[in-house]
Amino acid sequence: MKILTERIPAHRVQTGLLVLALPAGEPPPDVVAVDQASGGRLLAEARQRTDDPTRRGSVFVFQGHGLLAAEAVALVGTGNDDPTAAPTWRRLGGQATTLARSHRLSRVAVSLAVAPSGVPRTNAAGAVAEGVLLGLAGVRSRRSKPEPTGPEELLLVGVGHGPAVERVLERARVVGESTWLARELISMPASELPPAEFARRAQAAGKPVGLEVRIHGEPELRRLGMNAILAVGRGSEHPPCLIELIYRGGGKRRRPLGARHLAFVGKGITFDSGGLSLKTPSGMEIQKRDMAGGAAVLGAMVAIARLGLPLDVRGLIPAAENMPDGRAYRPGDILTIFGGKTVEVRNTDAEGRLVLADALAWAAAGAGDPEKPRFVVDLATLTGAVSIALGREVAALLGTDRGLVEDLLEIGRETDERSWELPLVDEYLPGLRSDIADLKNVGDGGAGTIFGGLFLREFTGGLPWAHLDIAGVAWADKARTGTPRGAAGFGVRTLIALAERAANRRRRPATGAGLSSPRAAKASSRGPSGRQR
Ligand code: BES
Ligand code: MN
Ligand code: ZN
Repeated sequence: MKILTERIPAHRVQTGLLVLALPAGEPPPDVVAVDQASGGRLLAEARQRTDDPTRRGSVFVFQGHGLLAAEAVALVGTGNDDPTAAPTWRRLGGQATTLARSHRLSRVAVSLAVAPSGVPRTNAAGAVAEGVLLGLAGVRSRRSKPEPTGPEELLLVGVGHGPAVERVLERARVVGESTWLARELISMPASELPPAEFARRAQAAGKPVGLEVRIHGEPELRRLGMNAILAVGRGSEHPPCLIELIYRGGGKRRRPLGARHLAFVGKGITFDSGGLSLKTPSGMEIQKRDMAGGAAVLGAMVAIARLGLPLDVRGLIPAAENMPDGRAYRPGDILTIFGGKTVEVRNTDAEGRLVLADALAWAAAGAGDPEKPRFVVDLATLTGAVSIALGREVAALLGTDRGLVEDLLEIGRETDERSWELPLVDEYLPGLRSDIADLKNVGDGGAGTIFGGLFLREFTGGLPWAHLDIAGVAWADKARTGTPRGAAGFGVRTLIALAERAANRRRRPATGAGLSSPRAAKASSRGPSGRQR
């Protein structure tokens, strides 16, 4: 998509669809100008046709009737939404894409007049661009007659060119494109994306941006002692692997990966039939998405590399297909996880926590490097129970480090990838006891998402750790704010923002939320690791 900027009055913008934010209260100057150009029809008709055109979510589209330079104008109510907050603008961008698509207009313009001038307006431009790009699915159509994909050109009205604007627009492109990458992989049928193909695509995406990509196949997994990844993948024709992505941005003078790198782990089950503890047909229908956590980690790693963040990050994706077969692992089997803990398999459908246990334990041990990561975050479509608890808009967040959890909650609000914390209830831990091994892989009823978290915590080696259960949010059955129907790519933005925070914190006080400049933001006392920095 082409993204242009221009500083001209809104009523003179030549485009397909001109999108104007309409907050509560008096209409802003850009709306007034366009209204005047329309001979007062724009606002009059908006007030006539909607109960309140300023209400958040209200949309009124005015066909230009030859009165305006734009073919059509959309007034999007933003109510009392904060004009200095990124989500306000990201949503407006998403709506611009949706509206342009439904009106089949290939050019769209968004006026930034409501954003305060200075750095906030530059950042609003970035947020709009991000929203417009995220509004495009970025997924290859499989229909014989592909549907319209959306606008091809975005014009941002009210900012000029310049390095600061270029920077935020480049970031928006990186965020958008890495989210598309995740969405495309999540959308792919499991028949087209076995673990080896996932790995190949990770390599194809990672190499050109400078990531080191290591694929650990079965022999290597045996050598490392990753018996859970091997066991879960054993029932499939397609062998499992562990995809390792290494980003070194922390500077050459430090040891490999530096003293304080970050580690991201993503569940990469390319298809989850449940294994011998077979799912029902309806439960299985949607399980090609069971690698969404891995896809998000890949997308974020590619983005972090493209942005050149000054820190080291390692991404791990345990990839396997969970199938029933004569060779498949069974309920009752006992697995030795990397690091030596033993797990009694009670249910082969609780496979995600098993492959994650190997990967988390390895990550927490430094993954072969002498230095341990500063913290570990994992993303996983881990439990059906999370949709019962939180529905389809909000991910569950569980973690062992206050600072990290608070950071992720805040980032979730800023990025519109919302999460809600669930407690790691220690009193439930006995529910994971096994008669024969250290642990069993399912709890003793209830609190399914919490049991998933408690199980994973056992493999984090006491490092600061957080887990996002994205089973409810990985796929949007209907369009969500800013996310089209289908694979969401949930977590890409969160991980990028988390890495940015960690990188910024090394150089200067914490960056603030929203659109304010990092320097103007007030310092936060907690680092992602929960330590004062
Ligand atoms: N992949 C599923 C979870 C899931 C459900 C993802 C729906 C996406 C949509 C996971 O491996 C699973 O099967 N979890 C079990 C755990 C149980 C056996 C403890 C579940 O939620 O039923
Ligand atoms: Mn499962
Ligand atoms: Zn699964």
